[in-house]
Amino acid sequence: MLKMEARDHTNGELRLSDVGKTVKLIGWVSKRRNLGSLVFIDLRDRYGYTQIVFESESFPEAAKIRNEYIIEVEGEVCKRQTPNPKLPTGEIEVNAKKITIINSANTTPFIIADETDALEDTRLKYRYLDLRRPMMQRYLMNRAKITKSIREYLDNQDFIEIETPILTLSTPEGARDYLVPSRTRKGSFYALPQSPQLFKQLLMIGGLERYYQIARCFRDEDLRADRQPDFTQVDIETSFLSQDEILTLLEGCIKKVWKDVLNIDIETPFRRIPWKIAMGKYGSDKPDTRFDLFLNDIKEDISGITFQALAEAEDVRALVIPHQAAETSRKVADSLNDISKKFGIKQVTTLKFVNGEITGSFTKFLNDDIKKKLIEHLGLKEDDLLIIAGGSFNHVCFALGAIRSFYAKKLNLIPPHSFDFLWVVDFPLFDKLDDGSYTSEHHPFTRPRKEDEQYLDTCPEKVLSAAYDIVINGYEAGGGSLRIYDQTMQKKIFEILGFTEEDIKRKFGFFVDAFQYGTPPHGGAAFGLDRLTMIISETDNIRDVIAFPKNLSAVCPMSNAPMPVDEQQLKDLGIKVVTEEDK
Ligand code: AMO
Repeated sequence: MLKMEARDHTNGELRLSDVGKTVKLIGWVSKRRNLGSLVFIDLRDRYGYTQIVFESESFPEAAKIRNEYIIEVEGEVCKRQTPNPKLPTGEIEVNAKKITIINSANTTPFIIADETDALEDTRLKYRYLDLRRPMMQRYLMNRAKITKSIREYLDNQDFIEIETPILTLSTPEGARDYLVPSRTRKGSFYALPQSPQLFKQLLMIGGLERYYQIARCFRDEDLRADRQPDFTQVDIETSFLSQDEILTLLEGCIKKVWKDVLNIDIETPFRRIPWKIAMGKYGSDKPDTRFDLFLNDIKEDISGITFQALAEAEDVRALVIPHQAAETSRKVADSLNDISKKFGIKQVTTLKFVNGEITGSFTKFLNDDIKKKLIEHLGLKEDDLLIIAGGSFNHVCFALGAIRSFYAKKLNLIPPHSFDFLWVVDFPLFDKLDDGSYTSEHHPFTRPRKEDEQYLDTCPEKVLSAAYDIVINGYEAGGGSLRIYDQTMQKKIFEILGFTEEDIKRKFGFFVDAFQYGTPPHGGAAFGLDRLTMIISETDNIRDVIAFPKNLSAVCPMSNAPMPVDEQQLKDLGIKVVTEEDK
């Protein structure tokens, strides 16, 4: 590091071996305590804390010092009488010989410490103070280490880092676009990229062969704990590689990141779970497999049931929770229904297995044969709670999957500090909507599996894709696919998705045209950099790993963006804002 005049050591650096040295430190006052005539100050910088000690009468000026003042201290390193084992510098203190106040500070709206009870919006409003908390700095350092590790890995694998435009056209990744009005073409809009998908494919047509980018992406969608409107992808595209080769390459990248950042050796290859099994067994397309609660298909077991809704349901599954038979109060049932409702299942059924029997008011719909089959198939044990849902495959799986996660948290089933890596593969290419139309499960450029191309004309919902998601601890940490590289196939997919000739020409004309000039077979993926950082940092809040994030309403409480703009700016852009009152 460059030498600096303001200090010769950081606040995280001094140890017993430095005792006797004269040192110069600078930092923020984290805490100040007066013990009789002695004053103790915890001096903080990015690197840690050092205890400073002095006689109050030696420095009358120091009486002014408050928390978050910046001071410069010169003094001698001494052994502490009572060491603090929690601090790396806890065995020493610096006996001040000179103290200079560099800057004062107002009282901060919350105390700058890892433990805080400040509301998140207050922390976001004063983010520059929040960022002084050591924990926040650790998150951002993790993020930088991850990026560095990935860059090294991809550079070693011959990848070229290339930037693609931010002012561009819509990329169909399934969210709403953020639009930017054009001044030069009034009435026209750029879209901010939901991902660099189109451009990275064009780079392959351009012959670059191995591309990557730490890419900012923008999606106007409902926000959640693991979603931000502007977020960052590690975006990757390659030519001439098979799916297996791409997965191996990406696994190598994750392996290096875990080694570089956490010094953890992880085993590759990762497990590959077909989508249908991920959904049917774990109730999720991003399953957390660190705990053993499973969904079971009981459609056949309940044949003959006299409860109409389950008898007629396309799919019926049961989730067994051990030792929870006593927990079947109205309140528990209501909270389970609250969860399942969000996923399209109005009500789940609960039964219990006690004294060797299935019990519960619902048993009136079950004959002895059904009960016997359920006991055998589910391997029921004393005190088991049985939660049953019926409906469409997706609804049943997602609802029971959410209940599975709820119990994992409630019963503390997830081992702490553990990492669980897997691929979900063989996704359906399309999602069939209630109105009979189709949307892409990934995006419209994803290649169908060769063996399924035959169903494209007759039964598109049967077609599986060459797509893959990397799942870590139940988070979708990244996703990608092999791409379509022949023009006729791309047109067919657009048609199934209901795009008209005109739509295709207008939205993707340039892209489809490019396919005529020798498109290499290609494929790639994107990791969510924010999500990788969350997982490595073991936080479940994406905002923790972004320096200046938005809140759940997509607002930045610090800058107050988004904001109305000047009338003149709107005029220049040819835009008139219509308010609710104008309507
Ligand atoms: P996908 O849409 O799956 O694929 O995105 C890739 C990864 O980006 C992360 N991610 C997000 N992170 C934070 N906030 C968001 N709103 C958000 N949305 C997505 C996730 C996700 O796995 N172009 C394709 C990739 C490809 O096919 O190569 C794409 O964008 O971790």
